[in-house]
Amino acid sequence: MREHVELTGRGNGVERESAVPPFRRMRRLRRTEALRRLVRETSLSVDDFIYPLFITDGASIRAPIASMPGQSQISVDQLPVELDELRALGIRAVLLFGIPATKDAAASGAYDPAGVIPRAVRQIKRHDPDTLVITDVCACEYTDHGHCGVLVDGDVDNDRTLPLLARTAVSHAAAGADIVAPSDMMDGRVATIRQALDAAGYPTTPILSYAAKYASAYYGPFREAAESAPAFGDRRSHQMDPANVREALTEISIDLDEGADFIIIKPALAYLDVVAAARARFDVPILVYNVSGEYAMVKAAGQLGWIDERRVVLESLLAMKRAGAGRIITYHAKEAARWLAEEQSLARTGHHTRDSLMARSNP
Ligand code: PBG
Ligand code: ZN
Repeated sequence: MREHVELTGRGNGVERESAVPPFRRMRRLRRTEALRRLVRETSLSVDDFIYPLFITDGASIRAPIASMPGQSQISVDQLPVELDELRALGIRAVLLFGIPATKDAAASGAYDPAGVIPRAVRQIKRHDPDTLVITDVCACEYTDHGHCGVLVDGDVDNDRTLPLLARTAVSHAAAGADIVAPSDMMDGRVATIRQALDAAGYPTTPILSYAAKYASAYYGPFREAAESAPAFGDRRSHQMDPANVREALTEISIDLDEGADFIIIKPALAYLDVVAAARARFDVPILVYNVSGEYAMVKAAGQLGWIDERRVVLESLLAMKRAGAGRIITYHAKEAARWLAEEQSLARTGHHTRDSLMARSNP
């Protein structure tokens, strides 16, 4: 005798009927989109997105990146077109990576005041001064061996790399970068960069530190995009071991002590526990980097028709926010911005009402 039982609500969430045990009806607040919207804890907005750009030396270049469908290397002269598109979509922040014309062991292209990143920053600031420009500070795109600093005996030498990073950061600030973001994972780099920026007359340029950056296989497609794969070995002597979370909290606290204004945790999806732990412990803004490999997997499965790409992307980005990320660096930014705009206009044109009517007529 347990087919359909009418239960009477008393408003306290717990109800009684002789045939069934007392239980709470969580479904009440999920019944219509209007109700779900009312009790939603986390939201996604175009303001959450920072869009990475790969800037290559040369002119009239727009070279698609095979392992990152929809992404391209672009030359400095193509930036105005790109910025207009981003602006129309409401994306107001970019993160720049540079691919220099020539690479050498000293990464001299990284700190060249006339290098690809300073030229890109100037171009952006000329075209659209309100677009926020963050520059990635690392040597791996500029070294002929693809490592993130100066090599001594086959490993990146920490202390010899520090001045190189400081010069690079200063060259970006001098060109007008709003924020510099060191991604090298050398010890002491935040303190060194802060000191150099202050000494060069840029005390107001913030440092966004990739404080917890893991030695991750998810960077694979990026290394094709930035032409920065190490010629031998890997980055495990400086990037973090994926097994560790307490160590990430130590890294973050050291970077903040050294003067980082805010931090990035990277990659995103496989490291949301790190984001949640950092959010609970520190009060600075936390960004996540939804990296190239995460993007490539979703794109590939989407192209094969194995997943609903739109829903998977929006769900993943929302999960990053839920875990505690304030903002998200993501290659999905343009598409996600379009989808969010579509959803908003659907909500305005009465999509809610239809939804609740359907729920009522079809209990
Ligand atoms: C440079 C850098 C990397 C990424 C951001 N900055 C690559 C690396 O450390 O090898 C990865 C970003 C991505 O995968 O999207 N140090
Ligand atoms: Zn690097």
